[in-house]
Amino acid sequence: MSRVLVTGAAGFIGSHTTEQLLAAGHTVCGVDNFRTGRAENLAPAACHPRFTFQELDVADAPAFDTLAARFAPEAIVHLAALVSVPESIADPALNYRLNLHATPIVAEAARKHGARRIVFASSAAVYGDVAETPTAETAVKNPISPYGAAKLASEIVLLGHAGAFGLTVRSQRYFNVYGPRQDPRSPYSGVISIFCQKLAAGEAPVIFGDGGQTRDFISVHDVARANVIAATRRDVQSGPANICTGKAASLNELVAILRRQFPGAPAPVHGPARDGDIRHSLGDPGAAANELGFSPRVSLADGLAELVRAGWG
Ligand code: UD1
Repeated sequence: MSRVLVTGAAGFIGSHTTEQLLAAGHTVCGVDNFRTGRAENLAPAACHPRFTFQELDVADAPAFDTLAARFAPEAIVHLAALVSVPESIADPALNYRLNLHATPIVAEAARKHGARRIVFASSAAVYGDVAETPTAETAVKNPISPYGAAKLASEIVLLGHAGAFGLTVRSQRYFNVYGPRQDPRSPYSGVISIFCQKLAAGEAPVIFGDGGQTRDFISVHDVARANVIAATRRDVQSGPANICTGKAASLNELVAILRRQFPGAPAPVHGPARDGDIRHSLGDPGAAANELGFSPRVSLADGLAELVRAGWG
């Protein structure tokens, strides 16, 4: 069993990852600054005997170093981040502080305090608008937002630590993650949480552009399981892996599936296309299957039905 430090533990992916780590028998120290994370997300983990929590900002290097020295993790799962492409365009400096500046702080804490492994929340956004889908990890990286650029730069920072200091670094290139606890309240929230909230309120969801853009939507339960494997399987080597399903759905298809969950809900309306939006995003899940032994289990239809039952917020 491992000691795992999870940054962004009160967030959407972080709280699910924390719960699955605890359920698998590991000891977890969670960290969050509550910029977007919520204490209630940690309610199921909070009283677990193998869970501790500290409120801090990962970009605060001395505080993070002190915590890593005290907890002495074997692995760090670094999920704390600004998660929105449009927010990174609205505030590039904040994006670079949270999504890039924090990365060498985590890498240095791992090196200095004996962690052997870092799992990093990277993104399909590192590829940008790709010529070929499904996209494999070897595809040309051409980020088209500060968000994608910071994720790619962070991967490279971590590769340097892997090469020089023998750490195992797994960059998890998440595609579009959805599920319970994804906060729908901000314009920067994930599209599925926003659409669920609108449809439940009897309001028309707004599709940016013609709705022909496609995404590879993956359940947070699958993503958390991929994180647990990457953080704890001892035979895993360094490298990037798409965390995706290999199946694409257009925004128009997504709305059609969701409207079946909300009988009587209004039809969508279309607004202007969003700046920095990728047209097609579809991952090749082969490397995750081969290198991590990870394959997703939750279909989009089942995941959306569960999300609606759970109340999506
Ligand atoms: C998402 C993730 C990002 C992740 C990336 C991987 C979020 C908030 N963003 O970015 O962290 O790294 O996938 O590929 O989870 N849309 C609408 N109407 C709305 C909101 C969005 O039509 O009200 C459209 C957008 O224009 C876009 C699609 O839905 O085409 C998905 O948008 P969004 O959920 O913000 O995710 P990505 O930008 O793909």
